[in-house]
Amino acid sequence: MNDLFDDDANAPRLLPLGAQALLLRGFALAQAGELLRCINQVAQQAPWRHMVTPGGKAMSVAMTGCGPLCWVSDSQGYRYADRDPLSGQPWPAMPAALAQLAQAAAQQAGFADFTPDACLVNRYAPGARMSLHQDRDERDLTAPIVSISLGLPAIFLWGGATRGAPAQRVPLRHGDVVVWGGVDRLRYHGVLAVAPGMHPATEDCRINLTLRKAL
Ligand code: SIN
Ligand code: FE2
Repeated sequence: MNDLFDDDANAPRLLPLGAQALLLRGFALAQAGELLRCINQVAQQAPWRHMVTPGGKAMSVAMTGCGPLCWVSDSQGYRYADRDPLSGQPWPAMPAALAQLAQAAAQQAGFADFTPDACLVNRYAPGARMSLHQDRDERDLTAPIVSISLGLPAIFLWGGATRGAPAQRVPLRHGDVVVWGGVDRLRYHGVLAVAPGMHPATEDCRINLTLRKAL
């Protein structure tokens, strides 16, 4: 394992993953409790669900979201929707603390004035995974993606410009934030199956928040 990813206190907190991609170790740690309270409220209004891919398979990751828009998938394809298809109601509002944290993380990575309009919330039970994909359903590809990890750890697959390019395995832990944009905006990425475990903040799951500017 690469020294950069060791747990010691002297390990660097900012790890470049590309020319315009950065892992900010522990960047969300201080606000993790507040973020999890926000997510619980969001999930009361817009319940967790396993969306179905256009190919008809239920995703292993459970999802909800908040903000003016949220990414959805069904037999019609992938897109952003301004209403929760389950209820027909607008998505819950994006908590200000969440938007501010994402903006601060983006700034650290060199993206000034990131104003997310969509937050997808992913919940990984043990065994849930996300196969390699690009985030490319957003209209504005000049804005970065900000991804916040909470709870159980996972291995993030950080790939290249094509699906077949070799992928780096990056351990992500509670409080870590990854930002990617610019020349790295369309890098393939995914998450290996989450291992069973217990985390004091989330119990038996991993939560990931991805903030995007969709429009
Ligand atoms: C995603 O790519 O949408 C999720 C990434 C993650 O869970 O870390
Ligand atoms: Fe993604």
